Amino acid sequence: MGKLTIERDNKSYLFEEIISEAELCKRVKELGKQISIDYEGKVPIIIGVLNGSFLFMADLIRNLNIEFEVDFIKISSYGDDLKTSGSVSLIKDTSANITGRDIIVVEDIVDSGLSVKYLYKKLSNNNPKSINVITCLKKKTKKDVDQLIKYIGFNISSSFVIGYGLDFKQKYRGLSSIYNLKSHMES
Ligand code: IMP
Ligand code: MG
Repeated sequence: MGKLTIERDNKSYLFEEIISEAELCKRVKELGKQISIDYEGKVPIIIGVLNGSFLFMADLIRNLNIEFEVDFIKISSYGDDLKTSGSVSLIKDTSANITGRDIIVVEDIVDSGLSVKYLYKKLSNNNPKSINVITCLKKKTKKDVDQLIKYIGFNISSSFVIGYGLDFKQKYRGLSSIYNLKSHMES
C-alpha cells in the first residue's frame, strides 16, 4: 500500500492508500452496469456535484450503455477544512430543466449527509420524475441520509480522504487512488 506525506502550513500529514486505482475501476464498471439495467429505456439527467465528483462522474458515464444527459451543480460545505462547515451553500445551479425527468445525482463522498439532504430538497422543488443519488464513497451516516442514497461505491471509515477528485485544501484531486489521513503533527 502506498504512503504519502504532505507538508502544509508547518504540519506534516501522513496519508495511506485505502482503495487502489484497479479497485476503483472495477467498482465503477459494476455500478455502471447496475445503473444501465435500472434505467433501461429511460434517459436520465446525470448531475455531477462539483468539484469532487468530476473524475468519478467521467468514469461512471463511460460505463453506461443507456442514453443520458449530463449537467452539474456546485455547492460548498467543507471549504478548505478537514471537516464540514455545518452549512451548505449553492455556488452554481443546474442549467437543465429537470421537471418530469429522472435525475441521478453523482457525489464524490457522503460524510455528514448535509450536502445530499440539501441537494435532494433543492432538486425536488423542481418536480423531477425521480431522484436517485450515487456516491463513490460513504462514511457512516444516519438512517435518514442512508435512505436517500441508492448506489454506493465503497463504505469507508470516518477519517479524512483524498484523491480521485477529492481534495485536501484544493490540491491532490488528481491522485488515481484514494488515500486516508493516518496522522498529522507539527513539522
Ligand atoms: P457532507 O455534506 O458532510 O456529507 O460532505 C459532503 C462534501 O464534503 C463532499 O461532497 C466532499 O466534497 C466533502 N468531503 C467530505 N468528506 C471529505 C473527505 O474526507 N475528504 C475530502 N472532502 C470531503
Ligand atoms: Mg462533494
